[in-house]
Order: sequence, then structure tokens, then C-alpha cells
Amino acid sequence: MTIAALIVAAGRGQRAGTPGPKQWQPLGGRRVIDWTLDAFRATPLIDRILVVLHTDDLGLLPDSPDFEVTTGGDTRAGSVRNGLEYLAANGGDVTHVLIHDVARCCITPAHIAQIAARVQTGDTPGVAPALAVTDALWIGADGQVAGTQDRSGLYRAQTPQAFDFAAILDAHRAHPGGGADDVEVARVAGLAVSIVEGDESNLKITHPPDFTRAEKILRDQMDIR
Ligand code: CTP
Ligand code: MG
Repeated sequence: MTIAALIVAAGRGQRAGTPGPKQWQPLGGRRVIDWTLDAFRATPLIDRILVVLHTDDLGLLPDSPDFEVTTGGDTRAGSVRNGLEYLAANGGDVTHVLIHDVARCCITPAHIAQIAARVQTGDTPGVAPALAVTDALWIGADGQVAGTQDRSGLYRAQTPQAFDFAAILDAHRAHPGGGADDVEVARVAGLAVSIVEGDESNLKITHPPDFTRAEKILRDQMDIR
């Protein structure tokens, strides 16, 4: 078995309010992307790491024997597709892939290993982390509460989302527009996806205050990194 990590890092980070894309911003003495790559590098179950970059950013990541690089698309789904096609064309022996947002830089090697080990069992072609919704859910209209939504059975999805490689490649080829995430693409293709417990610390840096939150989490994780 060969397990690859496919890290999408070609976004422009429009919502982050930083001078350049968020993955290149300094955080706790390093860059956001360096924390993410290190977590995968430190996970023995991961055999290959592919980073998908924007063409403008290719010079920002020094060559390393630890990872391969290819270029992304205009959308997240396009970047995932490019990464999957790269893996299919280069080596061809990948059996499973973990698809991860570079902006989730607080992911831990332990969590990556848990997801990789689960997908390897082959129980379901997909495995993804998520957290059950605990807040009440409202439907709003014009600044007022217009209704409430039953939260039972609802989850907040995270990454890495792990799949049988051939199955998710076929799913993306059949659904080039992509979906909200790779689990949606998998589901449209009829693939079953198991939910594993997510991690509240595995936030996706999206808005400006998320940098401070992520830095604090990384500091608290010092002893497990
Ligand atoms: N991503 C990508 N290629 C794109 C768009 C997004 O590889 N064309 C990646 C981002 O780099 C990020 C992940 O997908 O790691 C999740 O996307 P998001 O958090 O939306 O990041 P951005 O698209 O960069 O941010 P924004 O939507 O605020 O512009
Ligand atoms: Mg985006």
C-alpha cells in the first residue's frame, strides 16, 4: 500500500486580510504551510506528500526530497483534480490519498495517522473527520430569527479527507465541477464515507482572528510536535 497526502495550497486567501495568500504568512516563527507540511512529514504512515501550488508561488517553497509539487486550478476542486492527476501520472502506485487544506495547519500527526489507518482497513472507500454540531441552529432573515433548524445528525466537516485512490480519482473525473469538498464529490459518485471524530483544534485559517487562534493552539501542541 502507498498512502499519499495531497495538500491543496493554491488558494489566494481573499478573506484572510493578509498582504499575500495565508499559507505563506508567518505564524509562531515559521510559515503556515511549514507547520502543515511538517505534520505530514512526521507521520510514518504517509509515504508521499504532494503540494499543489499556484503558478505565481512556485518559487516560495524550496525543493525538498520530502515532497513533490504541482500546480493548482482556479477552484479548490480544480486544484484537487490536478493533484490527483499528477499522482496518477507520476508513480501510479498510490492506493490511498489524504486530501488536506494547507490552511488547517494545526493538524497533528496523531490525527493524520488515525485517519490513514482507518482508510487502509478498506471498510469504506472514504473516511473523513467531522464534529457534531452542538450550537442551536437558526435560519435568519433581515437580521431576525425566521426559524430554527434541528441540529441532530449535522456535522462540521474537516480535512484530511481520505479515500481509496482509484475511487476518488474516478469520482473527480466524473464530476469536474467539484462540490463543497471531496466528500461531496465522493458521495455523488456513490462512495460511502465513514465519519471519524474531528478535532476542535484543527481549525481552518479563514479570517484575520484565526491566525491568533492557530498560533495559540500550535504553542499548546509544542510537546506533541
Ligand atoms: N485552494 C486551492 N486552490 C484554489 C482554491 C483553494 O488549492 N483555487 C486551497 C486553499 O489554498 C486552502 C483550501 O483550498 O488550503 C481551502 O480553501 P479556502 O480556505 O477557501 O482558502 P482560499 O481559497 O485561499 O481563501 P479564500 O476563499 O478566502 O480566498
Ligand atoms: Mg476559497
